[in-house]
Amino acid sequence: MTEEGADRADGRFGPGSHLLVTGGAGFIGSCFVRDILGRRDGTQITVIDKLTYAGNRANLAPVEADAEQAGRLRFVVGDIADPAVVGPLVADAEAVVNFAAESHVDRSIHDPEAFLVTGVIGVHVLLEACRREAARAAGGERPAAPRFLQVSTDEVYGSVETGHSREGDRLEPRSPYSAAKAAGEILARSYHVTHGLDVVVTRGSNTYGPYHHPEKLIPLFITNAIDDRPLPLYGDGLQRRDWLHVADHAGAVEHVLRFGRAGEVYNVPGEAELPNRQVVERLLDLLGKPWSLVRRVEDRPGHDRRYALDGTKLRALGWRNRMSFETGLAATVDWYQANEAWWRAARSGDWDTYYERQYGARLAGSAQAARE
Ligand code: NAD
Ligand code: TYD
Repeated sequence: MTEEGADRADGRFGPGSHLLVTGGAGFIGSCFVRDILGRRDGTQITVIDKLTYAGNRANLAPVEADAEQAGRLRFVVGDIADPAVVGPLVADAEAVVNFAAESHVDRSIHDPEAFLVTGVIGVHVLLEACRREAARAAGGERPAAPRFLQVSTDEVYGSVETGHSREGDRLEPRSPYSAAKAAGEILARSYHVTHGLDVVVTRGSNTYGPYHHPEKLIPLFITNAIDDRPLPLYGDGLQRRDWLHVADHAGAVEHVLRFGRAGEVYNVPGEAELPNRQVVERLLDLLGKPWSLVRRVEDRPGHDRRYALDGTKLRALGWRNRMSFETGLAATVDWYQANEAWWRAARSGDWDTYYERQYGARLAGSAQAARE
């Protein structure tokens, strides 16, 4: 057993436990819920989700269509920043896994407030509820204090020109999104230090896969390309991201929940560090669509050039990703081709307003991107 493994959690959060999953109708949270309930190991999950534009109950349709799994899922529509809703849910749970967040950098540039309310006040409300439960455990009113897992992001390290970020590196967030995420995880870790709360943090890479809201790079470009619409590539398109399949992200979160050491942070790297241009080329190849769809558009303000994580610590805890980018990307393209009703519904409501604000002027002044 590794040094970290020797001091790991005792498995209370594994099969048969009761988890409170926030943001469980979102992209990664719903994968976490589907994968755990799909194993049929007796685990019960309560989801709390505000169902913002990014939350979609249809993401849990495979669970709700299966009586055995549906019987172990409770779905509560609610806000993690609302103590009256959160308190009783935390009281019933052995662990809280906090996926809930506003998650799109571009939206955080226009409308940062919701990022702060959910990412800071929401985390505070969850932590206070955990603190009350820890006091109840100390008084013998429940068997043990809840564990709190904060799902954070590689973006808290800021733009990393060279090398790979390690968990002890300085946090230098550069967007309102990543600033809110950094604040949330720092607050969570402060409750470990100050109140002895059982807190663990994951920092995942850029994630892709099925049920990903079409505002993000990969699903936006797949769905636009299916419709032969222009693909708005920001700036020179040489920004680099390290792509992590959603099932590996959800699996790593579960692994840290079960085996992570209290007070620790674990990076969750992906399988392929690539410039955006190369990701787009691969998508177009898979879809059989031409590069001429790609437009060079005005860059994102403060655009982080590169994220890259060192995964040594998570590997020492015993986790390995399973999905290669090549296989995962091909499967993702297949999924969007087969699930048009899902993504067309996600591109309704306020989508046109959002799209016009984000891309209207950019595309109007754009030219076809040079192929380098
Ligand atoms: P998402 O936007 O798809 O889902 C977020 C979910 O949270 C939605 O279902 C939404 O309705 C819900 N939500 C938002 N505010 C809420 C509130 N106040 N109360 C309750 N529910 C609320 O996001 P995602 O891509 O699934 O990301 C999940 C988590 O993982 C986030 O914390 C994000 O910061 C983190 N993360 C994401 C990535 C990525 O590439 N997608 C990478 C690293 C970390
Ligand atoms: P995104 O999926 O928004 O994730 P993040 O900003 O959290 O990394 O963007 C991934 C990369 O793709 C990022 O470098 C910005 C770029 N991008 C574009 O070039 N065009 C787009 O329309 C979008 C949404 C992103």
